[in-house]
Amino acid sequence: MNIQLDPQSKTEKNAVDHFRSDVLNGLQNTPKKLSSKYFYDKIGDHLFQEIMAMPSYYLTRCELDIFKNKTDKLIDLLIPGNESFDLIELGAGDAIKSTYLLEQLIRKGIDFTYMPIDISGNILSILHKKLSNQLPKMKITCLEGDYFEMLQKAASLSDRRKVVLFLGSNIGNMTPEEAEDFCLHLNSNLSTKDRVLVGFDLKKNPHIILEAYNDKEGITASFNLNLLTRINNELGGNFDVKQFQHYQTYDPVTGACRSFLISLISQDVMIDNTKISFEENELIDMEISQKFSPENIRELGEKSGFTITGEIKDAKKWFLDSIWQVK
Ligand code: AVJ
Repeated sequence: MNIQLDPQSKTEKNAVDHFRSDVLNGLQNTPKKLSSKYFYDKIGDHLFQEIMAMPSYYLTRCELDIFKNKTDKLIDLLIPGNESFDLIELGAGDAIKSTYLLEQLIRKGIDFTYMPIDISGNILSILHKKLSNQLPKMKITCLEGDYFEMLQKAASLSDRRKVVLFLGSNIGNMTPEEAEDFCLHLNSNLSTKDRVLVGFDLKKNPHIILEAYNDKEGITASFNLNLLTRINNELGGNFDVKQFQHYQTYDPVTGACRSFLISLISQDVMIDNTKISFEENELIDMEISQKFSPENIRELGEKSGFTITGEIKDAKKWFLDSIWQVK
């Protein structure tokens, strides 16, 4: 087993500085805004695991169905021929879905290196340990940090063809404009014939979507509120979390599923030396989980310089993995 855990590209201090300036800028915005990319500290990672286990949160199970039951079709679309390649996964997390693909690639004797990229070092070290046991023959290089910095890092480590996975409808955490910028940027960081697979949650009965993000148990609420606790712990904040309430919306016309925190009272919050004032019922815009039609997806791929080479849906037709090739 070839283990190559890369040291953090940024120092711990730089990461905290970045977090602090994003939080302060966001909370001085009108409307106030925090980025859902900061949900994933140790507690946030754990809460997201709980979300994935909720019966109403169908996304993970749908994409798992694709990776488990349509593995050979995936391989046909992602890896034409038997040439060696690097399999990069953006935001790998626990990689339970991609492990079905990894197992099948090993079984078929295809030569590749798995390169999971994640901003959570905690998640990566757990993943590394797990895969070392499960697939001892697989070459793995864990890359901790920013997606595009780590994509460049991956390109500098080898000149093999790249196949990039971006699963779980993580792309839904971007607004449609941000998603287009992201895909253009992804395209410009890859070479001709490289391929990407992007997972998209499809528009469907709006009740089903809203229920996935508005659970009565309050797990999604805790997931959102935990960012306030994280700000308290890491940035010297004094949010009284009980004075904020989670509010979820889904707009079936635009496909935007959004979460907010509502300030229940007029209150001042200190973040280190900065005072942030909230009016009663003032909102913090927390997260977008964008939903797509198959046409939305093809348009996005083509606008950002890819050729659509295939698409695979789960048995329920609720989720779509779209495979694109760099022109
Ligand atoms: C991890 C971004 C795919 O938006 O569905 C789950 C995060 N937020 N419940 C999503 C999330 C609330 C999730 N993604």
